[in-house]
Amino acid sequence: MKEYARLIIGGKELRLPVITGTEGEKAVDIRALRKETGYITYDPGFANTGSCKSKITFMDGEKGILRHRGIPIEQLAEKSSFVETSFLLINGHLPLRKELTRTSIMLNDQSMVHEDMKIFFSNFPRLSHPMGILSAMVNALRSFYPEIIHTEEDFEKVFIRLLSKVRTLAALSFKISRGHKVIYPRADYTYCANFLNMMFDSPVNPYLLDKDVVKALNTFWILHADHEQNCSTSAVKTVGSARANIYASISAGIAALWGPLHGGANQAVIEMLTQIHEKGAGIKEAVEKAKNKRSSFRLMGFGHRVYKTYDPRAKIMKKVCDKVLPKLRINDPLLDIAKALEEVALSDSYFVEKNLYPNVDFYSGILLRAMNIPTNMFPVMFAIGRLPGWIAQWKEHMDDREQKITRPRQIYTGLNQSAYVPMAKREAPAVEVPEE
Ligand code: SDX
Repeated sequence: MKEYARLIIGGKELRLPVITGTEGEKAVDIRALRKETGYITYDPGFANTGSCKSKITFMDGEKGILRHRGIPIEQLAEKSSFVETSFLLINGHLPLRKELTRTSIMLNDQSMVHEDMKIFFSNFPRLSHPMGILSAMVNALRSFYPEIIHTEEDFEKVFIRLLSKVRTLAALSFKISRGHKVIYPRADYTYCANFLNMMFDSPVNPYLLDKDVVKALNTFWILHADHEQNCSTSAVKTVGSARANIYASISAGIAALWGPLHGGANQAVIEMLTQIHEKGAGIKEAVEKAKNKRSSFRLMGFGHRVYKTYDPRAKIMKKVCDKVLPKLRINDPLLDIAKALEEVALSDSYFVEKNLYPNVDFYSGILLRAMNIPTNMFPVMFAIGRLPGWIAQWKEHMDDREQKITRPRQIYTGLNQSAYVPMAKREAPAVEVPEE
């Protein structure tokens, strides 16, 4: 039976339809609100506002549930590969064997980037952050591939190109930033193995693939693959809603993800743990500082807009760290500090009462360090993982007939009408200085 919300406002009663999702989530459809009442809603950060209907990812922040196309993240992390999960997110179903094989072959076919792009890299200042470079380079891809997406085949060609070339661009930027010989992708390597080889192979020291590291990288990217309407995905869809091309939309997503409150947090976590380790700043001091309202310091990797319990991805990431680091004979003191920090924070009423738990970024950097990924590339690793989610969400948005160009309203709190003042009359009135 149809459900309605009754709103009594401005002396009128309005019946607003209620939308119910397949998992029982409910939303009040306020599309008629302003026309019927002249009122708008006010919701900074859109914490209580649904921007769309979506079939891609379901999150229950209170129960710590994350599912992609209905499949729990725990099952995908354990049994799937990043390419298979990307296919699932974008195409809406798990691939048949022949579909997966075809996708892998297309990814390898598209793994090279135009040689001219190497010149772009060398023109960035040496200390440029890899996220700034990546965002610019993804935008630049449009110059090499200006085709407009008209058909599903066009779209498949573009998403394969993005998934494959963004990974190559990331490895390329790493090598060029160090003045090392660029390593090209190999047709006989899988997606993740190719990335590791492009990053760490060298003419004098051939990179030996470790299956545990390849599996860990698949898991790492699966855990980052999509997360419904987060900040960077919303940026991708906002830019896409103006019918800007997909490369510009993804470039905007990379830019948003760069922020330390979002995907940049994985880098900030390691910098925080390193500071505690090196300066002996002390775990309790860090927790106290994070609680101090006068300090802008936050416990990086803690808290989440949606999860008000342990981020299921953080649980898996922590388990992967516990498994992979010993296998690689790595004893990272930062892992012990992270665990101790988690223990102290989760026994502190400030964090418990505010439902602040570790999120995906809290342990992810420990795993990336074990893979020898440089810290400033951590947000890039997040971006490569999130790419299939951005692409899937962008396509769903483009195909959604209910969607329009993103254009929120506001409540104006500035000056009421005033008038233009000629320059001569603008000078501050001369201040009478008493004769000495
Ligand atoms: C990601 O949205 C997504 O899904 C994002 C993501 C994805 O996969 O796309 O999951 C990836 O971005 C994970 C989050 C990574 N960021 C960090 O780890 C940075 C540290 N965390 C915070 O800055 C914060 O928790 C946010 C940004 C993640 C969430 O911010 P909200 O939802 O706006 O929460 P808030 O700022 O309103 O905080 C609520 C309260 C505040 O205190 P009061 O004003 O109520 O007294 O909790 C406090 C905050 O001060 N708080 C923290 C804290 N996080 C929130 N206090 C100390 N340390 C923290 N980390």
